[in-house]
Amino acid sequence: MRVLVTGASKGIGREILRQLHSERYRVVGIARSAPLDLADGEEFHTCDLTDHDATRALLKELLAEGDFYGLVNNAAIYPAAALENTRFDDVRDAVELHLITPLLCAQELIPGMRAHGAGRIVNLSSRAALGKTHRSAYSASKAGVIGLSRTWALELAPANITVNAIAPGPIDTASFLAASPPEHPDTRALVATIPVQRMGHPEEIAHAVSFLLHPRAGFITGQTLHIDGGLTATTAGR
Ligand SMILES: NC(=O)c1ccc[n+]([C@@H]2O[C@H](COP(=O)([O-])OP(=O)(O)OC[C@H]3O[C@@H](n4cnc5c(N)ncnc54)[C@H](OP(=O)(O)O)[C@@H]3O)[C@@H](O)[C@H]2O)c1
Repeated sequence: MRVLVTGASKGIGREILRQLHSERYRVVGIARSAPLDLADGEEFHTCDLTDHDATRALLKELLAEGDFYGLVNNAAIYPAAALENTRFDDVRDAVELHLITPLLCAQELIPGMRAHGAGRIVNLSSRAALGKTHRSAYSASKAGVIGLSRTWALELAPANITVNAIAPGPIDTASFLAASPPEHPDTRALVATIPVQRMGHPEEIAHAVSFLLHPRAGFITGQTLHIDGGLTATTAGR
């Protein structure tokens, strides 16, 4: 079964590609740069996913070789600024990559899923969808991912195509650690608020993606899975 993973060059996306490949899926990754450690059978293509023409052309090329069972919309950027300093262009860029790109990919891949009578879409949202200081563009677009996922779930349910969102908490990818170095007091304070008292690992998100892609996960759709060491549970529990 073939699965497309966007933003698969590093971090969580790279781990998703690796894990699905080890589980015998036929994986295809896309990002602007390719990882240097691709294994045999891990297919990868470079493309700027905000370039609609280039993305559509690549997807049509890939689809000419066969349809996809799964789509994992994972590519992301992290614009950060206080409300007063948030640039309209940062909001547009975040909406472009976090909402328009998944829409384009889904529109291209869904006909094949319909033809096969089954499909799986997993969209990466974030804990920030619930609110995070200095993240207007990021949090708004990631909240949009949840709305998009629930709406697609309803539209695609009769076609046996499930759509779910995953909302990670702090995960120790290079991108996250660059913005939040582990020894920084703010990062230490953040980790102290996580009930399991540590950051998450990319493997733990990849495992959830694999679970939602599984053929036996066909009754799970329209859901948002918070994977955050209990962080979002604390709002009700403390
Ligand atoms: N890490 C966390 O703590 C955390 C928390 C909550 C949610 N998430 C979500 O989890 C997902 C993965 O996060 P991560 O930390 O693994 O991020 P990451 O390491 O920064 O990876 C982002 C991926 O997106 C790709 N990308 C960015 N812009 C692109 C573009 N225009 N065209 C094609 N590819 C593009 C990057 O590759 P290139 O630069 O090579 O293009 C990279 O492969 C994201 O959706 C993020 O919002 C992460």
